[in-house]
Amino acid sequence: MVPSKIYRGGRKTPQVDPDEIVHHLQALHPRHPPSQVPGGAGSHLTAFSTPYASQRDIPKYRIPHDGAPADTVYEMLKDELDLDGRPNLNLASFVDTYLDDRARRLMAENMPKNLADNDEYPAMLAISHRCVSMLAHLWGVQKGEQAVGSPTVGSSEAVMLGGLAMKRRWQERRREKGLDALRPNILMGANAQVALLKFARYFDVEARVLPVSKESRYVLDPKRVREKVDENTIGVFVILGSTYTGHYEPVEEIARLLDDMQKEKGIDVPIHVDAASGGFVAPFTHVGTAGQKWNFELPRVVSINTSGHKYGLVTPGLGWIVWRDQSVLSRDLVFQLDYLGGTEESYTLNFSRPGAHVVVQYYNLIHLGFSGYREVAENCLANARVLSQSLEATGWYTCVSDIHRRRAAASGPARGKRSGGDDGKETEEDEEETSAAYHPGLPVVSFRLSDDFRARYPRVSQETISLLLRARQWIVPNYFLPPGENETEILRCVIRVNMSFDLLDRLVADVVEVTESLMRREEEEGKAEAKEEGRGRVDVLGLLREQHLRRKPMVKTGKGKERFRQVAEEAKEKVEETRGRMKEGIHRTVC
Ligand SMILES: Cc1ncc(COP(=O)(O)O)c(C=O)c1O
Repeated sequence: MVPSKIYRGGRKTPQVDPDEIVHHLQALHPRHPPSQVPGGAGSHLTAFSTPYASQRDIPKYRIPHDGAPADTVYEMLKDELDLDGRPNLNLASFVDTYLDDRARRLMAENMPKNLADNDEYPAMLAISHRCVSMLAHLWGVQKGEQAVGSPTVGSSEAVMLGGLAMKRRWQERRREKGLDALRPNILMGANAQVALLKFARYFDVEARVLPVSKESRYVLDPKRVREKVDENTIGVFVILGSTYTGHYEPVEEIARLLDDMQKEKGIDVPIHVDAASGGFVAPFTHVGTAGQKWNFELPRVVSINTSGHKYGLVTPGLGWIVWRDQSVLSRDLVFQLDYLGGTEESYTLNFSRPGAHVVVQYYNLIHLGFSGYREVAENCLANARVLSQSLEATGWYTCVSDIHRRRAAASGPARGKRSGGDDGKETEEDEEETSAAYHPGLPVVSFRLSDDFRARYPRVSQETISLLLRARQWIVPNYFLPPGENETEILRCVIRVNMSFDLLDRLVADVVEVTESLMRREEEEGKAEAKEEGRGRVDVLGLLREQHLRRKPMVKTGKGKERFRQVAEEAKEKVEETRGRMKEGIHRTVC
């Protein structure tokens, strides 16, 4: 029971001694003796009252009966989360980890706003419409078309919506013609991100996953598309920026091929472009898609998605889907919501979702403008080129990505003037080389150990390189390329906005040091083994032969057997000695 004393004294001058209360309550709690914290720091009254109370388990799987002080829980969580990787050194992810101060402020101020509450947050809704409009124009929406779109929680939701719209449209057309709509299929490359496969499985569409090859640059091969399209194909997912290698898939080539198929067979197959990363990269870079069309300029492209939280430069929780025109979005997917006396349309999978992210997206679009996004994309590509070229300069690595390789014919300003706006007008001199001189793609460096290196150091594994880099805080994943090329393992670095040149310097130094340490280790192991093998085999056999020849007379005299045994013993000892030294050597190199 709490002593009545603590209620004495009224509101003005409470006659309360906090220490007394704490001690009293702790005494009532037999499993929780008074704090032993040095210096007599006051303690809280719960199972995990201080960060020092390490003898108590923190509830993990069932909600505790009583809560715990915010400060303590905060500290404990912070400590546990220290086990996570550092976001800015996480080169495995395309997802943005950086916000400037103003963006953070807007994020915090708008955090409580739910994007689903249109009535309550009309300004946010208007901002969201403006973002959709900007993206539709950035992606080449055509005159007379009425683009529609929506924010989503990421590209995954957006891809599902794009896929669903294609499925509904296909079903409606089939039914109009009196045909069955029972076996829809969708085409995608084996390099497709899991979200695309999820769409197929969750929405009962057969996924026709087409193998990739070195010749198709590890992305969707148009030839295979032609082979697999039929009357039940609801559409083709074409990826602008493969998650594996950053290569762009040939949207225009696939569109032309589908145009031909429509002429030949009367099958009209639309394209949804998954521009999760490329949607905020390709439109801004000088190289673009190297003159190839990829967006709404192609009539066959009905919808495009992107992740605002990748190169859109918003932290996780935002994607976008845009359809080129209302007519390609089945009315069956659109829900009418009453809104301020009017009607607002909803066609997302999620209802409630963060609104602050949309605000930050708009902030970025206005604050950076076309030229700001261009600078970010160009810087990322330039840094990715430096990393690629540095890796290849060692001779130990080969890049699977191509953005550092020069193109034969450059279309944009490879060097010199830089265009400053979406009107294409030149605004300033820039003597730096631009991406126009190089192959298009995402700022991604996918690399592997070179054939020469593998031949010389067959025991060095890429996985170990990834693990040793992790020990230095870098997160550089190592994984296999998609089916068709899945014998090849790649290490991959995604270069994002906060991968500064200085940091890149450190990364290159660390990759070199880690690789050298593995080379040294293999060399020392090799030497030690050679010694062991040499001593073990040559010494024993040589010794035996030598001794046998020398002692020939002994054999004759009948003492040969004994001498043979002695020589064998001597040889064995020498082998053991060598083996011991080898162990020591290995041990040292591991340290
Ligand atoms: C090509 C591609 N599509 C879809 C996705 C899924 O995007 P999100 O994580 O925004 O849901 C990714 C994620 O990396 C991706 O790279």
